[in-house]
Amino acid sequence: MTINIKESNNIPPLKRYRSKSMSNSVAYTSLLLIELILLVIKFIYTTIESIVRLFLPPLEKSLVDEIVLITGAGHGIGRELAILFAKQNAIIICWDLDEKGNAETEQMLKIKGYKRIYKYKVDVSNRQEVLDAANLVKQQVGNVTVLVNNAGIMPCRPMFLQSHETIEKIFNVNVLAHFWALEAFLPSMIENNHGHVIALSSMCGVIGLPNVVPYCASKFAVRGLMEALYEELRVGDTKNKKSEIKFTTVYPIMVNTGLVKKPRNRFPFLLDMQAPEKVANIIVKSMRRNYKEVSIPWMLMPLDRISRLLPGKFIQNVKDFIDTGLDPHTDEF
Ligand SMILES: NC(=O)c1ccc[n+]([C@@H]2O[C@H](COP(=O)([O-])OP(=O)(O)OC[C@H]3O[C@@H](n4cnc5c(N)ncnc54)[C@H](O)[C@@H]3O)[C@@H](O)[C@H]2O)c1
Repeated sequence: MTINIKESNNIPPLKRYRSKSMSNSVAYTSLLLIELILLVIKFIYTTIESIVRLFLPPLEKSLVDEIVLITGAGHGIGRELAILFAKQNAIIICWDLDEKGNAETEQMLKIKGYKRIYKYKVDVSNRQEVLDAANLVKQQVGNVTVLVNNAGIMPCRPMFLQSHETIEKIFNVNVLAHFWALEAFLPSMIENNHGHVIALSSMCGVIGLPNVVPYCASKFAVRGLMEALYEELRVGDTKNKKSEIKFTTVYPIMVNTGLVKKPRNRFPFLLDMQAPEKVANIIVKSMRRNYKEVSIPWMLMPLDRISRLLPGKFIQNVKDFIDTGLDPHTDEF
């Protein structure tokens, strides 16, 4: 380290340091102030924009020729999504462990006159299988531009009656499978700065419920994965461009697909089982409007946000009063 003796002889070092740091701090404070003013302007702008959006939703984007891959397309919400995406003239790739269910979905789509359908038997919890199937998809169809991480399982029983194998399986299918599919398909989306990732979480990823402790934990994890990945791409640099990859996380309450074996519902007129066609319709609409999150029914998410501001014990009383949830069952999944 070299010291400029001449300069240090003229001005006492401490004073020199002070004057320099003072001018620096004035510049820093002014910049901070400008940033704060900009932040307030942005806050006002985005608040007005959100209010306007409540009455004037964004236009729905076109899905023509998009390559849509749906995991768990052989049944339930995944099958309904395949039908709706095909209706939008997208190319559909159905992945499912259940070959029979997947073939039925393909058949249903072909009967409706949709021809651009591809089906693959894939266990999405197996990373190597996912990567191999993804390579086949790239060769036979092309780069996936819409990824729907939908496949999921939900064994319902008290925590200590869940075997460690079941807990691992829940996390492998409901969480890790999302990572493997993202590993396979997100790079080409980033490369082309075009794509959309949809993930099926659940209201169990927002509120913890008895009898589905591992399931709730897995769906909370999906929420965390989607939010963190969205932020990483938003603040990151995609070829020096703003990332155009969109994310939609879906939080349905009970859907009538057979996944929920023993629902308990004190007020069916308020929180009835949703039809899978209706849920899929909301998912596609929300995705086409680039919504980041959607609960089904929509008011559940705002209600959760408000309820978290209220005293915890009061909310427990409300939960006891509503008395709605999932009873344990012994069926295999
Ligand atoms: N049904 C509900 O009440 C409900 C509520 C909230 C969220 N969800 C979520 O929505 C998603 C779809 O649920 P659903 O009700 O349509 O379920 P579903 O059981 O009707 O269909 C799930 C599909 O995923 C497939 N699958 C399961 N494990 C797989 C694996 N390892 N590899 C490949 N495919 C696999 C199954 O074969 C099945 O075809 C799930 O993630 C679920 O957690 C469902």
